Amino acid sequence: MRPTVEAAASSNALCAPPNAGSNLLVVFTGSIAAYKGCDVVSRLVQRGHRVRCVATPSALKFIGTVTLEGLAGTPVLSDTYAAGSALEHIHLTRWADAVLVCPATANTLNRLAAGLADDLPGALFLAHDRSKPWLMAPAMNPAMWTHPSTVASVQKLQDWGVRFIAPAEGRMACGEIGEGRLAEPKAIVAATEAALANPVRRLRVLITAGGTVEPVDGVRVLTNTSTGATGAIIADHLSRAGHEVLLLRAKSAVATDSACPEETFVTFSDLEAALRRLLATNSFDVVIHAAAVSDYRVDAVFMDADSPPAPAEKLPSGGTPIIKLRPNPRLVDSLRDWSPAPFTLVAFKLTCGSGPAQSAEAVNRLLAHSGADFVVHNDLAARRADGTFPADIHLRDGALAVHCADRDTLAAELVRLLTSSKPFSHATNP
Ligand SMILES: Cc1cc2nc3c(=O)[nH]c(=O)nc-3n(C[C@H](O)[C@H](O)[C@H](O)COP(=O)(O)O)c2cc1C
Repeated sequence: MRPTVEAAASSNALCAPPNAGSNLLVVFTGSIAAYKGCDVVSRLVQRGHRVRCVATPSALKFIGTVTLEGLAGTPVLSDTYAAGSALEHIHLTRWADAVLVCPATANTLNRLAAGLADDLPGALFLAHDRSKPWLMAPAMNPAMWTHPSTVASVQKLQDWGVRFIAPAEGRMACGEIGEGRLAEPKAIVAATEAALANPVRRLRVLITAGGTVEPVDGVRVLTNTSTGATGAIIADHLSRAGHEVLLLRAKSAVATDSACPEETFVTFSDLEAALRRLLATNSFDVVIHAAAVSDYRVDAVFMDADSPPAPAEKLPSGGTPIIKLRPNPRLVDSLRDWSPAPFTLVAFKLTCGSGPAQSAEAVNRLLAHSGADFVVHNDLAARRADGTFPADIHLRDGALAVHCADRDTLAAELVRLLTSSKPFSHATNP
């Protein structure tokens, strides 16, 4: 398996220098590709940016401080405890409009993902203001790049909002051929400037999760088997990435690990009322409607076909009660009407043993009537023994964006899609 990162930005973005005059912090780590990092610094300076360089002790075995100072025109920092620069990890993160780790070694990448702060890149990373872009241009041997530790670290860092400039395929200095070569300097500069043009936005996100419960009488209920775990994991991933999440979950559903703010609901009517209120009084950027909403509510219960409706408190035991159900309206279709502000909508579709054609039809139907920007589809037949199942994320035109093997992958991919530099469609109901 290899880390999933988006391809480097097109070099077309280099036609006109946007954000010229930005403050850029370039962190060098100990890769043979450090010489290409020098080219990146040179290009950034030529395009009008102010550049400061940090270099790990390993990086300085490949290039000298004189080279970096000469290119950037500012002193190079390498030691957290250097005299006269004791608080530079705080000052530099405040100063920088964006941070670029180039080249990024496997060692630094894994260390940052572990949250270690015993060197300058680690301290800078933890002190970094996550509303500003942090980019990494990895360079390493293909085996290091595809090692499970690196794959997991890339995933984790992406969850936290770090943007990766995908390494290229080709012949490595070690003679191996594969993916891991530092992207071309031109593409790295383009990706950095693209990130400056699209700083990380802290999204306000509303997530619904868990199943509604419909009372049959004062003690009995009709409900479904939703645990709310998918919504909770998505809430955790978005919270960890620095977004502002409100979880509207079923009272019986699982809570989040991140302890993000939440409200609870029991019945369809509770959920509808909460959604109307929250959407009217907040301007969410994203609504992820993962709740398993009952399609029906109990209209009346009869102890037999000829008797009047039974009392609501508690049905007598015995007999063969008849429960008359009434369809609930589809909440997902009204969400946009209840919000004065536009938002990105993620809707969920569960099918039961559907083939590809039926599934596609169900997804397209939901996209059409809800106006959702993304539909997460899963099928009960693919459910594993532990209750988890894979999911597909579909785009507004029905195309498959990504297949996710499990809930964690789904949550990570949603974070990636929702925070990608592409503008949201803010589609309205058809
Ligand atoms: C000649 C040579 C080339 C290296 N190239 C790379 C590389 O391209 N990528 C990488 O991840 N590590 C590479 N390494 C290993 C790193 O330098 C090593 O893991 C070091 O501890 C990284 O430290 P740093 O991340 O603090 O800079 C190389 C080592 C040597 C001796």
